[in-house]
Amino acid sequence: MGIHIPDSLVKVLLEARKIGVLTGAGISAESGIPTFRGSGGLWEGYPVEKVATVEGFVEDPELVWRFYDERRKNIARAKPNRAHIALAEMEKHYDMWVITQNIDGLHLEAGSKNVIEMHGNIWRVRCTSCDYRGENREVPLGEIPPRCPKCNSILRPDVVWFGEPVYGVEKAFQVARESDVFFVIGTSAQVHPAASLPYIAKDYGATVVEVNIEKTPVSIIADYVLLGRATEVLDSLLRRLREAWR
Ligand code: OAD
Ligand code: ZN
Repeated sequence: MGIHIPDSLVKVLLEARKIGVLTGAGISAESGIPTFRGSGGLWEGYPVEKVATVEGFVEDPELVWRFYDERRKNIARAKPNRAHIALAEMEKHYDMWVITQNIDGLHLEAGSKNVIEMHGNIWRVRCTSCDYRGENREVPLGEIPPRCPKCNSILRPDVVWFGEPVYGVEKAFQVARESDVFFVIGTSAQVHPAASLPYIAKDYGATVVEVNIEKTPVSIIADYVLLGRATEVLDSLLRRLREAWR
């Protein structure tokens, strides 16, 4: 059975050339990575200002790194799920970009090539004093906080914290403006600028398709709201598209 995909949406997708996709923590939930908001969410019980701001890091880098070490252990065990893989397959048929707020790297692991990691990547580090940037896949970390190989200062995770500029914002807005269809998958759409992208896409004429287990602020402007788990919805969608692509 699966999730019902309206014929009109299949038609729009078969005529589309450019596709933009915004993803959030919900797309990785079925890979076993907790989302942020709601009960059992990652932020619950963790003071965001302590573990996800520069001020918190300056105050207690060890605490912040222990928090990220735990997340890294969890993410190291996680594999891309069928939703990540479906998006990688779609990229072969479209001029397509995935804009993600996730730092788990699972879109790249699933094989998507055009990925904008707006909030950075948990496997990258950068120095707090010099220009060193690099990869660190050590799980668990041998030394907390880890030190810069160039200048021995404290390294920080190369992720975006509250109040910091996001990565790839210009490209992301360009994708939103140019897309024929814009998907919004598994995000509560509350954190800007990422949360503005569906509205920009809509203003510039895209068909906006939301995929979530519940409604969000984006549902009001979405042309299609497909309620269900990301894997189930994308399975059903891909099944319809594959029939047509054959
Ligand atoms: P949230 O935790 O705010 O929202 C997760 C969304 O995924 C919710 O709308 C859920 O309903 C939905 N969801 C959960 N399971 C799902 C599933 N199996 N299939 C589909 N949808 C599902 O996470 P984000 O929107 O990603 O930023 O949060 C955005 C940003 O806020 C994060 O990148 C992080 C956070 O604070 C920073 O750290 C800067
Ligand atoms: Zn350094």
